[in-house]
Amino acid sequence: MIFNNYLYVWPTDNPISMKKQTFHTEFICYDSLDELPESDRQLLLLAKKSLENSYSPYSNFKVGAAVLLRNGQLFGGSNYENASYPLCICAEQTVLTTAANMHPGVAPLALAVAVRNPKRVIDRPGLPCGACRQVICETEVKNKQPIRVILQGETGSVFVFENGLDLLPLAFDKTFL
Ligand code: THU
Repeated sequence: MIFNNYLYVWPTDNPISMKKQTFHTEFICYDSLDELPESDRQLLLLAKKSLENSYSPYSNFKVGAAVLLRNGQLFGGSNYENASYPLCICAEQTVLTTAANMHPGVAPLALAVAVRNPKRVIDRPGLPCGACRQVICETEVKNKQPIRVILQGETGSVFVFENGLDLLPLAFDKTFL
């Protein structure tokens, strides 16, 4: 059965029919920001600039995100924490919902995420939490368009995923409802 671009088989009670399944996820790894294609580089720079607006007095962990819409509009956003910890809003969700409200019906082309930890330099890409991956996938499903995801820490290599779904294999989606 093909689902979410992955081939898988349900295990059954019969052990003879059980098959080990594997996921294959591809992404590009650039050694540094300077190696990125120019539009990705600019988007990542906006994400880095946006993390300066982070409201994160509890974790002190700053996250910036930037979205490029398919009409060329750019949006930046950051994480927004709350004394009631579960109410913290991630940067990715801030920017994707802002963009969707400012330009309804316009699909994102790319999303860049940057992180900064004042306690130590993060030298590997900051990875979106599970909830943000779910929100990225919902936005892809809603618009029927993939979102290119660009990730970097404070320094170091940059991961580029062609598709948010690659970050969330076997994602829950509306086909279950
Ligand atoms: N955070 C994000 O903004 N995005 C993620 O994908 C992971 C976590 C924020 C939430 C919280 O404000 C801080 O980082 C520490 O978890």
